[in-house]
Amino acid sequence: MNTNGLSGEVFYPSKEIIKKANSKNYTDMVKFASDDFEEFWAKEAKNLHWFKKWDKVLDDSQKPFYKWFVGGKTNIAYNCLDVHVKTYRRNKLAFLWEGENGDFRSFSYFALRRETCKFANVLKSLGVKKGDRVTLYMGRIPELAIGMLACARIGAIHSVVYGGFSVEALHERLEDSQSKVLIVADGAFQRGKIVQLKQIADEALQRAATVESCLVVKRTGQPINMESGRDMWYHELMALPIASNNSNLEIMDAEDPLFMLYTSGTTGKPKAILHTHGGYMVGVYSTLKYVFDIHEEDRYWCAADPGWITGHSYIVYGPLLNGATSFMYEGAPSYPYPNRWWSMIEKYGINILYTAPTAIRGLMRFGDAWPNRHDLSSLRLLGSVGEPINPEAWKWYYKIIGKEKCPIMDTWWQTETGMFMITPMPGVPLKPGSGTFPFPGIVMDIFDENGEPVAVNEEGFLVIKSPWPAMVRTIYKDPDKYVSQYWSKFPGVYLTGDSARRDKDGYYWIIGRVDDVIKVSGYRLGTAEIESALVSHPAVAEAAAIGLPHEIKGHAIFAYVILRNGFEKSEHLVEELRLHVGHEVGPIAKPDHIELVDSLPKTRSGKIMRRVLKAKALGQDPGNLSTLEE
Ligand code: WTA
Repeated sequence: MNTNGLSGEVFYPSKEIIKKANSKNYTDMVKFASDDFEEFWAKEAKNLHWFKKWDKVLDDSQKPFYKWFVGGKTNIAYNCLDVHVKTYRRNKLAFLWEGENGDFRSFSYFALRRETCKFANVLKSLGVKKGDRVTLYMGRIPELAIGMLACARIGAIHSVVYGGFSVEALHERLEDSQSKVLIVADGAFQRGKIVQLKQIADEALQRAATVESCLVVKRTGQPINMESGRDMWYHELMALPIASNNSNLEIMDAEDPLFMLYTSGTTGKPKAILHTHGGYMVGVYSTLKYVFDIHEEDRYWCAADPGWITGHSYIVYGPLLNGATSFMYEGAPSYPYPNRWWSMIEKYGINILYTAPTAIRGLMRFGDAWPNRHDLSSLRLLGSVGEPINPEAWKWYYKIIGKEKCPIMDTWWQTETGMFMITPMPGVPLKPGSGTFPFPGIVMDIFDENGEPVAVNEEGFLVIKSPWPAMVRTIYKDPDKYVSQYWSKFPGVYLTGDSARRDKDGYYWIIGRVDDVIKVSGYRLGTAEIESALVSHPAVAEAAAIGLPHEIKGHAIFAYVILRNGFEKSEHLVEELRLHVGHEVGPIAKPDHIELVDSLPKTRSGKIMRRVLKAKALGQDPGNLSTLEE
């Protein structure tokens, strides 16, 4: 990296930041990793506990089904908890948690391990075995992390469903994963209201045949339905003798599955991305350590939701593997007032804040006075994830929140990558809106339609050219789709689904998705999910959804609907359709705008041309229309 004479607007880190950084030898790290990335990852893996060391770092004999740390035996939950409990970190805080209503709880490493062991034994007593699937559906509460760790401890595969999803989304995920147990909260506090999680789960469970038990965590306390023989209270089970503190640890093969997480892809229903104990553990441990520069005394806050990959990797696993102290907050950023976040940074002395551009833009809108009322001087590093950050929001974050002394780690990655892939490190000169460079050992490129690297500053397909430890292993139950979706457009090369460009200094700039994925407030949704929810309404014959630029959310959802014969166009029906999507998929998927139309632009083979809809909505030239049917 030559950082002299960089083009464009550049922000340089201070000497203090560089001096303190775990990545102070960044240039050497990059060189070491690019000479031999297997050796680089093996070195990182040695910082973690293995019951048996691996025989081989990387097995690429069955590409693209790569295997990492082959022959190694470990358990990620053991590395998150037991390893620390044996050291001075026994009494260190693992989590500080604040509820939206002001409730506060904290867990030392000792306490978190104890609760995890107890809950693991509860799960075992309910018949959960290695390889069984367990779905978790809650708000941001500590029991979500405990549930995930308990599954990992006994080798069950967890599938977390984001608490903002609704009936059909939950049902589909329960059904596809064939989960034996559902762990749910009675409700969640969100903007002063209660999200009726258990009620949604009841509806989803009516249609999900494989779930034998439903364990309910009491969070909100409103009356709920408890079905006898199926539903049990978490706190009651945890008080029984079966909830013993016995370790009950399952020694896992490095390649044994750890979790599945559903995400939206190019076509059809959301698919389950599968991650493993060994490689995923090494990837998230090491990326967090270097990028967010975790030090013993730090208080780190990732404000994402554990229901998405950011929460899996960088609220639960990454911080615990590093023995860090993390803060977790349940509710909305501006509840009850727009200073909620800033007041908590001051109150808890947060050093590292990691969030999404949509939250920054949302809070920026309330003006500088709210953050300025608080002492934010504990902050050392800031982070951004989920969508490109516009330079205006970047600069506000940098200046008003970070007081021009906190570098911003704009991390590009995906559910599939499991860990940061393009990201700065604290000592790297920053350009607002660029994620800077690939993480050491990650080989990326930008290709044109023919698989040739594009020229400087030209847009193309962002691809990954070599394997990495936290990579997706397969799509659950659908290995063919794994190959066709990610490894087929350019054989042997991983297709990210994003477009990007690289400037003359080698900095990467992400432009956005090139497929049918829409990023709404950083959340990943597929046009297909929204469309199938619309079509499941009796009034709808056909539907098409697109994402259009939105000032705060990044993208807003626009839907075009053709009604069935016999239904009249009306405002009332439009509102009913919006609510229907909210009920089926979740509030985040509710279209911002629905237009009732008489026809949709289609190709001769019947594919909806979303590109044409988008151009029309934006008043742009729709481009080549030769394949348009009418
Ligand atoms: C987008 C989220 C620009 C990108 C961790 C990617 C980003 C998708 C960034 C994955 C970033 C994520 N800058 N775009 N820093 N981070 N994206 O699976 O389009 O929910 O493909 O994982 O988010 O979304 P996912």
